[in-house]
Amino acid sequence: MGNDKQLRVSKIENGTVIDHITGGQALNVLAILGIDGTAGEVVSIGMNVPSERLGRKDVVKVEGRELSQSELDVLSLIAPEATINIIRDYDVVEKHVVHRPERVTGVLQCPNHNCISTEDEPVESKFAVTDDGVRCEYCDTIIREDLAAHILV
Ligand code: CTP
Ligand code: ZN
Repeated sequence: MGNDKQLRVSKIENGTVIDHITGGQALNVLAILGIDGTAGEVVSIGMNVPSERLGRKDVVKVEGRELSQSELDVLSLIAPEATINIIRDYDVVEKHVVHRPERVTGVLQCPNHNCISTEDEPVESKFAVTDDGVRCEYCDTIIREDLAAHILV
């Protein structure tokens, strides 16, 4: 990889490159970041590009934007191998891996409509992260599949 013939998405000047995203998850990553393009964000996406490490991977490049810890926490759940590259002046100035957090707060919506976190109370959602999913700390509802469908926007 890396020579001019293989470069699919051009380099960015300033912002964040999220690399080694699980193949097929790029649009869910954008959902986590709350990016749908309507605010004029400059974003490049590569989907299912060949990767030595993952076989295939997605890549998301966002200009002029860095990620918050809570965004990184949810990201780790759908893209555990992701690398976060902070770009300044075309150089990679920081490179981070994501870590599966013990809990995620305020980013996923509990699927239980009777859960106190989904009513009109000022109660932030809170999920404990387990080996195979997440569990609501208020009502014990477990989400195992399609976490991205439960992202609060
Ligand atoms: N990148 C970019 N714009 C830049 C610099 C880097 O879009 N100005 C992208 C590269 O295309 C790559 C990622 O950021 O997808 C990480 O860059 P780099 O660390 O140079 O690549 P690798 O060494 O291949 O990274 P890794 O070891 O994490 O695979
Ligand atoms: Zn709940």
